[in-house]
Amino acid sequence: MQKTTYNHEQMLIKGQTALQKNTDQLKDTKYRLNYHFMAPSGWLNDPNGLIQHKGIYHLFYQHHPYSENWGPMHWGHATSKDLITWQHEPLALAPSEAYEFEAGKTEVGCFSGSAVTNGEELVLIYTGHVEGREPKEVQASAASIDGIHFTKNENNPIISGPPSEVAADFRDPKVWKYEDTWYMVVGTSKGENGAAALYSSKDLEDWKYDGTVLEGDGTQGDMWECPDLFPIGEKHALIVSPMNMKNGKNIIIIGDMDYGTGTFIPETHKEIDEGVDFYAAQTFEDEKGRRILIAWMDTWDTDFPTKKEGWAGAMTIPREIKLNSRNEPVFLPVAEMEELRTDNENFQQVNLPADSSWDINLNKNLQNSFEIQTEIKWDKEVKRGKVGFKVRASNDGEKQTLVYYDMEKQLLIVDTTCSGENNSSNKCAVHVIREDRLSLRIFVDTSSIEVFTEEGDAVITNRIYPDPSHTEAALFTSEAEATVTTMNTWNLKKVID
Ligand code: FRU
Repeated sequence: MQKTTYNHEQMLIKGQTALQKNTDQLKDTKYRLNYHFMAPSGWLNDPNGLIQHKGIYHLFYQHHPYSENWGPMHWGHATSKDLITWQHEPLALAPSEAYEFEAGKTEVGCFSGSAVTNGEELVLIYTGHVEGREPKEVQASAASIDGIHFTKNENNPIISGPPSEVAADFRDPKVWKYEDTWYMVVGTSKGENGAAALYSSKDLEDWKYDGTVLEGDGTQGDMWECPDLFPIGEKHALIVSPMNMKNGKNIIIIGDMDYGTGTFIPETHKEIDEGVDFYAAQTFEDEKGRRILIAWMDTWDTDFPTKKEGWAGAMTIPREIKLNSRNEPVFLPVAEMEELRTDNENFQQVNLPADSSWDINLNKNLQNSFEIQTEIKWDKEVKRGKVGFKVRASNDGEKQTLVYYDMEKQLLIVDTTCSGENNSSNKCAVHVIREDRLSLRIFVDTSSIEVFTEEGDAVITNRIYPDPSHTEAALFTSEAEATVTTMNTWNLKKVID
């Protein structure tokens, strides 16, 4: 492909300068998060290139440094030693070459992808996108010795277009090594179904098409963005972000990988997170052998009230994925999250009569970013009633976010209808069977809520936009009585700017 005269270095400097100017305007805005990763300013979407390389965690991300709106895609970059505090690094990739850039066009850029360690090098593999071009999506790579400055591969694009049997939507390469071969899955579609194309290579340069590793079963959307294939327990998992899937947006398919035939044999699938604001999850294995997942804590087609503040987009807290004894995937906050805890209050054996409300923030201990960990019990014979929490509530009770269990419907519900300046007024529900007790961990930040069952079998993530002064929190019951056997609350420290 013909090169343009645009130089990567110059494009990086231009983007970095715009970013710095915009960052200065973000001081003291009300929705900046305290412990969730955000770009220094501007727009952020998918996590990219998650990896622990030479001991350091790297988080790259889809980024438009020039404004709070999506635009020509760059790769933002941050590093961490502990997964909870992050240092912003210079932009890693800016669109500059003919396969990812065209002057004056907005829908161009270095789209999503992944990172691998290859000897001394940190290599990024990503999609070059130019809307209206034929082909519009190709795969490219860039490498770095210091882990900060990346040089694009002279042989880009390393995959110059989709194989004929799949669609022109052909993006988000995820690369991993199995035995002595590199593999790559690329999101695409085949006919009406989402699909993932499989490639293999001995050197990360020459790639051979091995067919589609899996295509959707007819219910799993018509295009699979951000595929991710990895071993988990005795099985393999394929994560995809399907477009146009009814009742689904980011699923994990558990099954077996047959490297001999290059096919994935699916067994079960499950929504990773039942909230509204969760998309484009990506995983990596860290040096402790944990499989860690981070997703974009927003989604397409919602309003972003933070745009008024000059930024949009954040990441979920990192979650560890495992299989439970039934080979079902479970998702739990990484243990490092406990480092953020401060101002502990402990409550034991709190009896809640039917239709009661019990203030858990009487001492005004909890501020606007905190964690609640609790076990609630009720009589096994009781088959009807609700028990749960109101958080980030106003004094007058007009504004509140509800987290509760409906014993009759056996649903865990997060209701953000009255949360505040809300884009996604919504009731998110997940079916979890609990006979007489429920244990939860609830993570609230200035503009988000993530609810995990203690077992990790259900997670609900939403952005909420309450007023900073709304810090009332209460336990409540309706129709049934219940007992909080134990509850801990902590404020969570501000570690992100
Ligand atoms: C997913 C996605 C990817 C694409 C990127 C563009 O959210 O649409 O498929 O690479 O965002 O920013």
